[in-house]
Amino acid sequence: MASSSIPLLTSVFTTIILTCLNPSITARASSAGTCYNSIISFGDSLADTGNLLRLDRLSSSSSSSSSSNTPPHFFLPPYGETFFHHPTGRCSDGRLVIDFIAESLGFPLIRPYFAGKDIRGRSDFIKGSNFAVIGATAIDDSVFRERGIHNPFTNVSLGTQLGWFKEMLASFCKESSDCKELLESSLVLMGEIGGNDYNHALFQGLKIKEVESFVPLVVQTISSAIQELIDLGAETLVVPGNLPIGCSSSYLTYFQSSNKHDYDMETGCIKWLNEFAKYHNKLLLTEINRIRELNPHALIVYADYYNAAMTLYRSPQKYGFKAGALKACCGAGGPYNYNASAPCGYPPATSCDDPSLYVAWDGLHLTEAAYRFIARRLLQGPYSGLRINRFCPPASTNFRSSA
Ligand SMILES: *[C@@H]1O[C@H](CO)[C@@H](O)[C@H](O)[C@H]1NC(C)=O
Ligand SMILES: *[C@@H]1O[C@H](CO)[C@@H](O)[C@H](O)[C@H]1NC(C)=O
Repeated sequence: MASSSIPLLTSVFTTIILTCLNPSITARASSAGTCYNSIISFGDSLADTGNLLRLDRLSSSSSSSSSSNTPPHFFLPPYGETFFHHPTGRCSDGRLVIDFIAESLGFPLIRPYFAGKDIRGRSDFIKGSNFAVIGATAIDDSVFRERGIHNPFTNVSLGTQLGWFKEMLASFCKESSDCKELLESSLVLMGEIGGNDYNHALFQGLKIKEVESFVPLVVQTISSAIQELIDLGAETLVVPGNLPIGCSSSYLTYFQSSNKHDYDMETGCIKWLNEFAKYHNKLLLTEINRIRELNPHALIVYADYYNAAMTLYRSPQKYGFKAGALKACCGAGGPYNYNASAPCGYPPATSCDDPSLYVAWDGLHLTEAAYRFIARRLLQGPYSGLRINRFCPPASTNFRSSA
């Protein structure tokens, strides 16, 4: 049977999960029996599978406003070249972590929310929905605007995405018990979200100390969203942490330093930026543990993107990537092949011959090959005894579409 070959969603990411493991999780995990009917995802460019692309089209067709005519670089080739062979609105050469999770659980690729909306604005919900938007922040955009921080891509926040989700629920579930049932049997991917709350501020010149002061609010915003989803019925949530931004070609270029002590000797990553990412992750994990205690029936998996990516940066060749993992595949030159004024998608930026050998795609996002690696670490970790759940065999799928 196909089902036996489907990798179980296991928590790889491991030391952390195992040490924080709460006994109720083990109990639930071993009870098995249940299965997923759908995948629901929130997040930013690490998870957007086409929402911003559609939102941009909607806004440029419905208004002749000041929005410029040049499309964002990630809507242009070579984005999508490896798997889809055309741009899909994903910030990579191919599939993202969410795509690999869907595939390995036996689902079709999860539709972007704005791809499923019909002319009356109602959403079609087949096997799930993805609300992630490129550039989205956890905290509301207005908070950043008040501080003079500009989001170049969108004003969508996690709160906006939750609002869409609740609208969709209202149009989809006839009774509130239907909604609860739907959520109980869903796998909820909460992010990655929060990275942009820092990216935009740091690239616009705010000092790290100032940006550090946002972290508790970012984490609290994510944790309130998790609690709200649990209150609506969600029982299984995967919450990714931040990536090691000190290894990102864009950060390495922007914060290039002549002080060699700023760099980690082993990887060449910028240490203080990675410390910052770890600080966010530490606070996020503390919150996750707090929510686990408050909601012992829920299973909340921390997806350790940080350490999965660090594994690649430390020994790229061991995992089939080429040495020099800090250099982006697609860019317009410079020590990390990243130049903010000449981003991937616009000349003179060009793409490398074989993106599957690269970890960094465009300087800010990773390649499909790197996302596949991260997803595998999440799906097939060494601790497969820690079973989370399975997909439902097609016959038992109750939620086919909105009637
Ligand atoms: C975000 O922008 C859209 C259109 O650009 C606008 O309609 C909407 O009201 C804005 N939302 C917020 C919360 O500012
Ligand atoms: C970055 O790209 C711009 C535009 O193509 C170019 O003028 C500039 O010289 C580049 N900077 C570097 C450091 O290569």
